[in-house]
Amino acid sequence: MQQTEADRNDAMPTRRGLLRGAAACALTAAAAGPDAAQAALRPIPFGSAAEIDAFRSDARYREALKRYCDVIVPMNDLKWQGLRHDRPRFDFSGADEIVAFAQANRKALRGHTLLWGDALPPWAKEMTTRAEAERELVNHIEIVVDRYKGRIATWDVVNEVIRYEPSPDTPLRDTIWQRLLGPEHIEIAFRTAARVDPKARLVLNDFLFEEAAPAGAARRKVALDIFRRLRDKGIPVHGLGIQAHLYGEKDLDLDGLQRFLRDLDALGLDVEITELDVIDWKLPADPVLRDKLAAARVSSFLEAVVAAKRPKAIVTWGLTDRYSWVPDTFPRQDSARARPLPLDTDYRPKPMMAVLERFRRGTA
Ligand code: G3I
Repeated sequence: MQQTEADRNDAMPTRRGLLRGAAACALTAAAAGPDAAQAALRPIPFGSAAEIDAFRSDARYREALKRYCDVIVPMNDLKWQGLRHDRPRFDFSGADEIVAFAQANRKALRGHTLLWGDALPPWAKEMTTRAEAERELVNHIEIVVDRYKGRIATWDVVNEVIRYEPSPDTPLRDTIWQRLLGPEHIEIAFRTAARVDPKARLVLNDFLFEEAAPAGAARRKVALDIFRRLRDKGIPVHGLGIQAHLYGEKDLDLDGLQRFLRDLDALGLDVEITELDVIDWKLPADPVLRDKLAAARVSSFLEAVVAAKRPKAIVTWGLTDRYSWVPDTFPRQDSARARPLPLDTDYRPKPMMAVLERFRRGTA
């Protein structure tokens, strides 16, 4: 996830401002109408990403996955960096462990991710020709999707292909795939995954669709353009993965997000929340207040989403504050510990978990 300087200079929000924002979002959801309200009442599967080192070393981590999750996604083990340390060999050890655990505990599985411009092994970044990139991409997807066919039900086929702040001339990120294959890299990935596993749900996964910043609206438009292009070419695609790494201090454009979700619905596309957490680095240090604000942010976001389009699942990017990417990427100036996830470092549920459980039970 790329961050601009602007992200680092936002002012500390006021408590009143944040809570007022949450109330306004709730009204947006209520205004969406009875059908949406009815849709909101159906249980929505909840899940989490599983980080392999914590999974292997921490029995409470495995117990929490069993207790709280309907869905599990390997956090890093199905990325090229996790699978392809060197070109001829695939290391499925981590992914196989998590897949076996999910199946043994009757959890659904998501696969993350068949194509990304990041988390690539050095040899992949050194590819030089169109033919080489296409050959490696198709081969990778054929082998990985075939291995988990019938076990991984949904794939993030492509991850973060939209430029951080897209423009009409440059809608897509500058990655090795874009450089060597052009926009067609997206089509090749979806077409290959669909050919290997016609029953899998195939998703485009990206972030920052919910923000009031201009980039939010621009990214929503690019996503729709990509989906329309895939549809026009008859390439199977089933939905959008909204990562939902929610900044605690930033304004959300929930009206814009709801219009976007309705546009996706009109295209016959699903949505799912794929990496939910709260980036709380600009929220007050007090843990009780911070947890309340984070829960309010998650609640208002999910209420707005569900009011417009019921997601297929709600997945957080981890379960416990003990293991999260957030503090490394968004260090707090006061060095207070980040609290981005639904369980604290001792696996105690926080207000955010109560919010998520409401959607999981269908009583939101
Ligand atoms: O496993 C190796 C270990 O053997 C090695 O000693 C160590 C030091 O180099 O690195 C370990 O791999 C790290 C991996 O996480 C597992 O911990 C990688 O360096 C590190 O880059 C990787 O970070 C992950 C990041 O994606 C990049 O793949 C984060 O855990 C993960 O939370 C983050 O998740 C991304 C989503 O995939 C896409 N959306 C944004 C999200 C947050 O950045």
